[in-house]
Amino acid sequence: MNYTVGILTASDKGSRGEREDRSGQVIKEMVEQLGWQVKVAEIVPDEQSIIEEKLTSYADDLKLNIVFTTGGTGFSPRDVTPEATLAVVEKLTPGIPEAMRWASLQITPRAMLSRACAGIRGQTVIINLPGSPKSVQECLQVILSSLEHGLDILTGKGGECARPLSPGQGS
Ligand code: MTE
Repeated sequence: MNYTVGILTASDKGSRGEREDRSGQVIKEMVEQLGWQVKVAEIVPDEQSIIEEKLTSYADDLKLNIVFTTGGTGFSPRDVTPEATLAVVEKLTPGIPEAMRWASLQITPRAMLSRACAGIRGQTVIINLPGSPKSVQECLQVILSSLEHGLDILTGKGGECARPLSPGQGS
């Protein structure tokens, strides 16, 4: 399906132009390979109110199918992306961050340090990804295929629940 995507990078340095947003770029490349369209990609500082405002606008005004955040999921006092996400979603989708952490823990024990969460607001799925380009790529490859199935169900476009690959095989 031709799903629409928003990318929100939470990074104090990135928002000041002091760091290139390579993680946002990785998300863009990976979702475009599925034929999804990136409608908006922005960098904001690690400020909860600003992140909440953007997520709300992407869901309610732009009516995007998916919003990926990157960054701000760790233990730094400035990391508030999960808190902003929890404040705006109406339903939690805990299996998505569970799958990302489960797969990422096979790569690095530090994956346990990501507090990423995910949920649904209206018809929009909002998913936190960690901040580094490598972690973004590792997490997305685990969830994208099943996420597409979830979006098909959420939008009423289908949703045959035939079982594909095992979770470790990127489904
Ligand atoms: N997940 C994967 N797949 N690969 C990684 O290298 N790094 C971890 C974790 N998740 C990592 C990962 C580390 S070191 C941290 S501190 C947390 O994500 C939080 O990252 P963030 O604060 O940039 O969001």
